[in-house]
Amino acid sequence: MNFELSEEHLAVRDAARDFAINECKPGVIERDSTQTVAYDQLKQLGELGFMGMMVDPKYGGSGMDTLSYVLAIEEISKIDASISVAMSVNNSLVCWGLEQYANEEQKQKYLVPLAKGEKVGAFCLSEPEAGSDATSQRTTAIDKGDHYLLNGTKNWITNGSTASTYLVIAQTDVEKGHRGINAFIVEKGWDGFEISAKEDKLGIRGSDTHTLVFTDVKVPKENRIGEDGFGFKFAMKTLSGGRIGIAAQALGIAAGAYELSLAYSKERTTFGKPISNHQAIQFKLADMFLEIENARNLVYKSAWHKDHGMDYALSGSMAKLHASEVAMRTTVEAVQIHGGYGYVKEYHVERLMRDAKITQIYEGTSEIQRIVIARSILKD
Ligand code: CAA
Repeated sequence: MNFELSEEHLAVRDAARDFAINECKPGVIERDSTQTVAYDQLKQLGELGFMGMMVDPKYGGSGMDTLSYVLAIEEISKIDASISVAMSVNNSLVCWGLEQYANEEQKQKYLVPLAKGEKVGAFCLSEPEAGSDATSQRTTAIDKGDHYLLNGTKNWITNGSTASTYLVIAQTDVEKGHRGINAFIVEKGWDGFEISAKEDKLGIRGSDTHTLVFTDVKVPKENRIGEDGFGFKFAMKTLSGGRIGIAAQALGIAAGAYELSLAYSKERTTFGKPISNHQAIQFKLADMFLEIENARNLVYKSAWHKDHGMDYALSGSMAKLHASEVAMRTTVEAVQIHGGYGYVKEYHVERLMRDAKITQIYEGTSEIQRIVIARSILKD
């Protein structure tokens, strides 16, 4: 077993770290306050090859492995989890889903610009009444011969207004349950497609999360992904990989909060010595360090499973569940270590604490991850 990162992996990690410090950090507090998307940084990420990291270069991607992707997400999430979620959705839900399951024509038309970062994608599964219970889709796509007629509402869609290309999951035959669900590629600007309310969120406030409304939107037949009835499995398979990305995001948020706490504890003096000399703070730092290292091992192992063609649904759920819980605990402790300073925006840790919470919710709540894990260990 080799736990060492290769030269290539270290180079990706360093490039992501430099990008996060030099490009993401300036303005991160302001973007959080004003709920502003970092459009320039997303464009730069595309130029760096970070928007289609795992996509084959023949489709405009960087041809890197999942571990490289995880390392990049981790570094960027230490500084700005709003940028990293936009990147994560584009890479592991949209680009990966298209590369694996779209046909050649769809790849040329939609995947290439997304992988190059010229366009941004969104993944539209959740609905007002279908979040965790993803088979209960109310959005319908009725077969009208040469097109489907799409009607319904999607909620909490990351990259909701930034995106140009939307992968939309909809019910085509309610009688068939999850086998009557399909996935479609929908373009911004089509008649009847409305980008509705922007959510005013607790965290990841620099990412645009919207409600999308579809009213008699004509989706050409050729924009269905895969065989008829493949949509639910498409969503599940895609989310299995997406969860590794969110696990890496949670890991980065935790590691960012820890690094800030470690530095602060050496600078801040109470009772005549740096607070890092107090055992109460040392114990907190030791626990944070241990928990983060444990989470990191799960996240990297899951990426390794994916890179080696092994099943990663279980390890991805384990990584996401554990890393997101570590992110929550670590960021709360980071605020505590910073005391009053931790409660104000300037010191970053209160934002990381707010950002951490979403990692326990999106791409499957912690409860969903426990269901996936329990089903897997009980199936034999
Ligand atoms: N890979 C492949 N196939 C899978 C799968 C996986 N990971 N999980 C399930 N399936 C298949 C099953 O094998 C089954 O197929 P068969 O009938 O042919 O055997 C079919 O899908 C139905 O599976 P289940 O009976 O297990 O379905 P279920 O209704 O019990 O639900 C669930 C399972 C795990 C709870 C699922 O509904 C789920 O993951 N829910 C959470 C959805 C979610 O993560 N939403 C997040 C929204 S996206 C988002 O947040 C994006 C963003 O913008 C950040």
